[in-house]
Amino acid sequence: MCGIIGYVGSKNSVPYIIDGLKKLEYRGYDSAGISILQDGKLVTVRAVGKVAELEKAALLENPQGTSGIGHTRWATHGKPSEENSHPHTDCSGEIVVVHNGIIENYLVLRAKLESLGHRFKSETDTEVIAHLIEENLKHVRNGSKEVCLLKAIQKTNKEISGAFAYGVLWAQTPGILIGVKNQSPMVVGIGKGENFLASDVPAFLKHTNKVLFLEDGEIVLIHAKEVKVLDKDGKEKKIKTTKIDWDQQKAEKGGYEHFMLKEIYDQPQAIEDTLRTARTDFGKILGLDTIGLRHLKEVHIIACGTAYHAGLVGKYYIEQFAGIPVSVDLASEYKYRTVPHHQGTLAVAISQSGETADTIGAIKKAKELGFRTLAICNVLGSTLTRICDSTFFTHCGPEISVASTKAFTSQITGLYALAISLGNANGNISQSVFEKLYKELMRLSKAMSESVKMEYDVRHLTRKIYKADRFIFLGRNVNFPIALEGALKLKEVSYRSAEGFAAGEIKHGPISIIDKNTPVFMLMPQDSLFEKMLSACQECRARGAFVVAITTEGGVAEAKKVAHKVIIVPQVNDFLQPILNVVPLQFLAYWIAKRLDCNIDQPRNLAKSVTVE
Ligand code: G6P
Repeated sequence: MCGIIGYVGSKNSVPYIIDGLKKLEYRGYDSAGISILQDGKLVTVRAVGKVAELEKAALLENPQGTSGIGHTRWATHGKPSEENSHPHTDCSGEIVVVHNGIIENYLVLRAKLESLGHRFKSETDTEVIAHLIEENLKHVRNGSKEVCLLKAIQKTNKEISGAFAYGVLWAQTPGILIGVKNQSPMVVGIGKGENFLASDVPAFLKHTNKVLFLEDGEIVLIHAKEVKVLDKDGKEKKIKTTKIDWDQQKAEKGGYEHFMLKEIYDQPQAIEDTLRTARTDFGKILGLDTIGLRHLKEVHIIACGTAYHAGLVGKYYIEQFAGIPVSVDLASEYKYRTVPHHQGTLAVAISQSGETADTIGAIKKAKELGFRTLAICNVLGSTLTRICDSTFFTHCGPEISVASTKAFTSQITGLYALAISLGNANGNISQSVFEKLYKELMRLSKAMSESVKMEYDVRHLTRKIYKADRFIFLGRNVNFPIALEGALKLKEVSYRSAEGFAAGEIKHGPISIIDKNTPVFMLMPQDSLFEKMLSACQECRARGAFVVAITTEGGVAEAKKVAHKVIIVPQVNDFLQPILNVVPLQFLAYWIAKRLDCNIDQPRNLAKSVTVE
């Protein structure tokens, strides 16, 4: 994530930029910075923490200038600190860059630039952009300064890989701001005698609702009175603007009514971003200790709430692909139970925030027992990541809604990558099987894009059932934890009574609570357990339940015979299927809560991050 804003006009840009950053804080808030072109020189102010901290620092420094850029950061490379805050500069201090995304090949580029004499001041991937532009500028001499800058940027774009949207100011081209978009969001706001560049519309909506949405591969040149767009082949393109009729609040949520809904829709991108560096990240993490890995005897997974459910799925993965026994504990239980000390134990703590007190307490205990520790976490620099020996970051950006959605599916995605990487490293799966599994994983984001299209179906279904007193969710194997998560999601946001069970267990007790019209959600993709799920449908239907089958295309005909309603999710391999199966349950929780008029993003009695025991 991260938020970018740029301004070129006739007024002092500072208040525009600070205000824009406040509107973008939902995209990240661990540090922020601005660079303003003042009397031919770039003045940069940066501060750790929220934008309010930057505002205080900017008041003291009081820069003035009619063009400037700003950034609010959600750390991905390098801890949250002033040095790692954007904007970043080249060696001369004349070029400043703000960036959102991940430059995958930054280490190689950094080494090359350092060998050419460039001095780096931060640990970020972003800084390579500033130095590359500086380097490339040395080799383009023909044309105006503006043309040279443009050419240097075009060359830079060919050299960097990954996802990036960035803005550039050069002290030698006053009044010009350049923006680049590739797989990360970037929009332009067209004002009267002033124009804006931003990650998202709310940053400038107060000043203009005339918006130009950029496409991947495009470069935009922004002057106070003119905006030019070059397409991916470098040709000037006719500009097409859109009038936005959102209010400010809705705009911050990307046009959605609630963050929860926005975050459900963020999932294809969140998975893609999480996977972008997963292979190299796990390669590095596991590569550090190959000898220890061969002797890895067991894995302890520790987490709370939704992250615990992700951990339960992870157990199936690690046992299947790496052949290593796994225990999954609620962090609050792990801390107080007797944990036998074994050589060769890896403790994996999963947490969106990295600040959950129970999880931190449990991982500290694992450390005291001498276990190696790995965090799967969404927040760089968080307490958990500082305690653990290594961290795999889920790159799903800030999750604002208390009920976790995109962090959950990103965590499971990360666990799958961990399991197959472990299996490959300890010889449990061959290189060719690993490659095949990885290929399937890399197609997951596309399948997720299909899954989120089912909102309408689920929304329609909730009209019929939202007043029910009790909801039941059933699944088996990798889909059992999804049944638990479906129930938790519904409880969290709608305050309805909901329970998830392993489908094979209902006959041992839970079936007694199913009565006429109890909605029962069956997670039954067409896999080896499909027949057994069909039987469970029959058992529930015989007790009068309203049965909803969540299945894949191949299971539809059979499911229709036993269920009142069938919801179809795209088919992927059996182990990846739970990541898609949870989507209808997320929509279900959302729409029931909406119909019951609940406070969806901030449910009663809950907190996003529970930092007390
Ligand atoms: C709180 C939240 C849950 C979340 C849990 C773990 O209880 O309300 O939604 O799943 O904490 O949070 P973490 O940040 O450790 O993933």
